[in-house]
Amino acid sequence: MKKALAAVTVAFTACLASTVSAQSLTVGFSQIGSESGWRAAETTVTKQEAEKRGIDLKFADAQQKQENQIKAIRGFIAQGVDAILVAPVVATGWEAVLKEAKEEEIPVILLDRQIEAPDDLYLTAVTSDQVHEGKVAGDWLVKEVGDKDCKVVELQGTTGSSPAINRKKGFEEAIAGHSNITIARSQTGDFTRTKGKEVMESFIKAEGGGQDICAVYAHNDDMAVGAIQAIKEAGLKPGSDIKIVSIDAVPDIFKAMADGEANATVELTPNMAGPAFDVLEAYLKDKTEPPKWIQTESKLYTAADDPMKVYESKKDLGY
Ligand code: AHR
Repeated sequence: MKKALAAVTVAFTACLASTVSAQSLTVGFSQIGSESGWRAAETTVTKQEAEKRGIDLKFADAQQKQENQIKAIRGFIAQGVDAILVAPVVATGWEAVLKEAKEEEIPVILLDRQIEAPDDLYLTAVTSDQVHEGKVAGDWLVKEVGDKDCKVVELQGTTGSSPAINRKKGFEEAIAGHSNITIARSQTGDFTRTKGKEVMESFIKAEGGGQDICAVYAHNDDMAVGAIQAIKEAGLKPGSDIKIVSIDAVPDIFKAMADGEANATVELTPNMAGPAFDVLEAYLKDKTEPPKWIQTESKLYTAADDPMKVYESKKDLGY
């Protein structure tokens, strides 16, 4: 009887200890904002992952401003959080604030975007290979158009952000050596639908009605959806008159594919927080150092991939 009681007590104490340690973890999350469907899904998934693990998540929406992110990070440091997650809006300008976190021994994990700073200032970065994403999109177009001449218009992401810089680079690498494919116009659409539509309207106007535009390369699906709208309003058919290739794989692009209005997208998982919390928990437990880069997958989907089925499967991913 005594033995049984002791076993129960040990089990109860162990259970209590694990609950207490999980619950006592406080993590600050500086999110960029809600510019895209993908971003909203990342926020949802991060909150869900934190709740699942009993982590107290302090959430701060920076409304697209780096200064708000820096303020939020300083606030998290002042509160003495156990760790900080940051989705950095732009690639530069982080060194000072990250040094402050380091001095307080608060590990920082970057989510979905890279920065230009010494890598000892953060624990790890959970991101895709954004150059590769651009290359996958470009390779798809190269194959799709073959030897035909193709005038591309490019909708870039937020100026100075790592995905805008790298997705452009990767796409250009893919089309280099294919002189039949040229980027005729390239401008930022800030990763938003509204701006994507606006910029596409200006491209169509500048290109004399848009009949000569062969493809839109958009750094995210939301801008592609905006561009699709602009193309339709100009009396052209997106998906056939003008091909659409973009990045993220949000549900709406699969609907557009099912309607024949979009052609290809490169998937970016919104679940960056799962791998981030895994390595953070291991690090806080026994200082297990994660790799400096945890790379997420970049899978190409085309209209041949049963878009409505993929659309349905996306529902559980925070969308
Ligand atoms: O950093 C990831 C990018 O940011 C996504 O591709 C885009 O939709 C988002 O806003």
